[in-house]
Amino acid sequence: MSLEDRLKARIREAGPITVADYMAACLHDPIDGYYATRPRLGADGDFVTAPMISQMFGEFLGLWAVAVWRGLGAPERFRLVEVGPGDGTLMQDALRAAALDPAFLQAAELVLVEPSPPLRELQAERLADGPLRPRWLASLDGLGADLPLILLANEVLDCLPARQFVRVGEGWAERRVGVDEADALVFGLTPAPDVPPAFRAEPGELMEVSPAQAEFARRLAALIVEASGAALLIDYGRARPEPGDTLQALRNHQKVPPLLDPGHADLTVWADFPTVLATAAAEGAGVTEILTQGQFLRRLGVEARAHALIAANPDREAVLRRQLARLIEPDGMGELFKAAAVMSPPELIPPGFAGAAR
Ligand SMILES: C[S@@+](CC[C@H](N)C(=O)[O-])C[C@H]1O[C@@H](n2cnc3c(N)ncnc32)[C@H](O)[C@@H]1O
Repeated sequence: MSLEDRLKARIREAGPITVADYMAACLHDPIDGYYATRPRLGADGDFVTAPMISQMFGEFLGLWAVAVWRGLGAPERFRLVEVGPGDGTLMQDALRAAALDPAFLQAAELVLVEPSPPLRELQAERLADGPLRPRWLASLDGLGADLPLILLANEVLDCLPARQFVRVGEGWAERRVGVDEADALVFGLTPAPDVPPAFRAEPGELMEVSPAQAEFARRLAALIVEASGAALLIDYGRARPEPGDTLQALRNHQKVPPLLDPGHADLTVWADFPTVLATAAAEGAGVTEILTQGQFLRRLGVEARAHALIAANPDREAVLRRQLARLIEPDGMGELFKAAAVMSPPELIPPGFAGAAR
């Protein structure tokens, strides 16, 4: 039975499901989920990410990790962690840049947090000739706090599902996925007694609440507070609470209706940076300001790096300029994508950020 048929059977049996439950099934159902069975990353697939656009992205994240390690006093052993490493390109580029500081690599134990079996295989191939042998975990759960942590997560929060609530009169209704008389999956509204926290919204406006993103932030911050270290989170998302339906399905680089062919498209929602950082701060971690990806990469020196690459490869100037623009300009990923960090001790200011925000 297809995932669509199983979801319909579940809905007929128990009623409409939340958008978060629908998203989780589409991404991680063990038989038919997108990441569990058929993730298609890259130019020939469904979507590309920053490290696939330019090697500079992963290189700067590698140098960021080295600077954080130095800021921690260059501990003899530490854990370098990437959550959701995709096809492994980011970590491959990060390790190549980090090799500028051999002591960093010598001190590092590499852990990849990846629930997707096919992506683990891709990562193993991509990193096979690299300087560090990775160990894999399916979630943050198995990650110990016995060593300092330096963690990178690019486009991972957006895979963590959100529930959707619509302002109706004085109250709220939850947007859920049901089945109509023609046997099609449809969105509908159900009363929402577990109303989301106070949020100013006009009737008809939709807000998203992601318990999964908040729980991820809580676990991450708890680990960092206990172990010391820093986590860099980059994703497309909001920098302040605001209404809007951001559920999006991508297939062959095109937006498709999110209820079409469950499990066959990448399904995302925006990262809710204000909630993620507030949750981390409540665990006792330091958190930074929220920058746009353009601001963050510029502060790290991406433009100077691009000009150096152009000087060394004049025949590739047009390509390199295009790549740089996609990373940092507002009509590329420069503004929609945000960057923020969580750290402990809170005085540890990671490169690119001006200081702790609270
Ligand atoms: C959009 S890809 C980003 C890949 C990579 N970080 C990059 O920048 O190219 C999302 C990654 O997060 C992983 N992922 C999805 N759900 C996850 C979860 N609940 N916990 C950890 N990783 C998850 C996916 O398997 C995939 O590796």
